[in-house]
Amino acid sequence: MKNIKLAMPSLKDAKLRRKLDVETIRYKENNKYINLGKGKTYYIFTYGCQGNEADSEVMAGILEGVGYTLSQDPMNSDVVLLNTCAIRENAEQRIWGVLGQLKGRKREKPDMIVGICGCMPQEENATNKILESYDFIDLVFGTHNRDHLPELIYQAYLTKAKVVEVLSNEGTILEDAPKVRQSHHKAWVNIMYGCDEFCTYCIVPYTRGRERSRSKEDIINEVNELVKEGYKEITLLGQNVNAYGKDLGTDYTFGDLLYDLDKTGIERIRYTTSHPRDLDEKTMLAMRDCKSVMPHLHLPVQSGDNDVLKIMNRKYTYEEYMSKINRLKELVPDIAITTDIIVGFPNETEEQFQNTIKLVQNAKFEGAYTFIYSKREGTPAAKMPDSVSDKEKHERLERLNVYVNEGYKKGHERFLNQVVEVLVDGESKNGEGMMCGYSKHLKLTHFKSNDLSLIGKTVKVKITEAKTWFMIGELCE
Ligand code: 5AD
Ligand code: SF4
Repeated sequence: MKNIKLAMPSLKDAKLRRKLDVETIRYKENNKYINLGKGKTYYIFTYGCQGNEADSEVMAGILEGVGYTLSQDPMNSDVVLLNTCAIRENAEQRIWGVLGQLKGRKREKPDMIVGICGCMPQEENATNKILESYDFIDLVFGTHNRDHLPELIYQAYLTKAKVVEVLSNEGTILEDAPKVRQSHHKAWVNIMYGCDEFCTYCIVPYTRGRERSRSKEDIINEVNELVKEGYKEITLLGQNVNAYGKDLGTDYTFGDLLYDLDKTGIERIRYTTSHPRDLDEKTMLAMRDCKSVMPHLHLPVQSGDNDVLKIMNRKYTYEEYMSKINRLKELVPDIAITTDIIVGFPNETEEQFQNTIKLVQNAKFEGAYTFIYSKREGTPAAKMPDSVSDKEKHERLERLNVYVNEGYKKGHERFLNQVVEVLVDGESKNGEGMMCGYSKHLKLTHFKSNDLSLIGKTVKVKITEAKTWFMIGELCE
């Protein structure tokens, strides 16, 4: 297949952080493409973080805006997009596997447009591999140009060539794009994009551009609309939400935004992800004062060892992390804290690993996503020598998870015999006649009921059993 390379990724350019004004693009449908998808269907496979889920909702909105309808059968749709994740090697392995399956399908259905987008194409190596080894792919684009989607599809149809447009700039802010939200009661709300932290192991600052905050007016308007539409819960999204506003040159911070959003009347506010260094007193006070801000915080720590934290470029110490969460526990005594941890960072010693275990015990986390360090080409850590074997890394992960899982269970046990408020998501996969949802502390809760009219409502449930991964309770009248 012929290639049309509109733009190729460059990790060197993606690293740049110039002091340029961020451009806000107000999305407008172009009449030229208005019937592009008439009578045709689409499907989007989404991998990775909530940021990607939110991006897929925007791409679905853009596609439906030009006439496509959602396909019930992904392998039979006219346009298939893979919205990819590059955070770890195993995330990418899964995607190469799915591409293998799509290859066979494309042979049987040659007019199907297959596109790959999101974080993976932002990596030079991945895009080169796609161009060399996955000739059947029609479209390659990244995280910065979702708004070009109709034009890219149009070009692919017209030219029958592979169209590649991966921009490695610092990024823009896309406003007013249509969205097809996955839920009718819970919504993602991006408050900022990108990351300027440059943790040495992480590819995100290269794939997502610089930190750029949406205006508070745009965010508050979006939440007001969601309230009007009957939404109950919002999750504010950003790689480092605590840095909200820093790039806007005003003194309006994330804490201020929480106080303002509390006034919109939305029932529940959650946010992710936080960076411990930027978590400030105002935000913690907002967690205490705002009824709608839920008593749960996901605060990735990554390691409990000060030397490792330093080499990771995390910019805080064990002691500083503990003092922040202790202060938060003073203000919101029943708060549930969860975290992210990486084991097997290059040259991590047994003693350093033990410091992480110590931290898990002292912090009393009620959950953690735990990962084995994965080398990401182009990041500083990829060049660090590493003496820790794969076997050792896997063993450390298993040993760590014993403590983490105890934390999950204790986090559920503390609600035994108590009545919790659950926002109902739907039928539970935990058995016939059961429904489920999340409590304020983000505990997955199952209860007996087959009343589908409860979906999207908040109900009271008395907890009768605490398991490692969920709680079970009885619906209160
Ligand atoms: N290897 C392993 N885990 C990683 N994370 C980010 N980059 C890597 C990597 N190279 C983890 C961090 C982060 C979470 C989203 O993914 O723990 O908080
Ligand atoms: Fe990656 Fe660190 Fe930014 Fe999180 S804060 S996205 S771990 S660079």
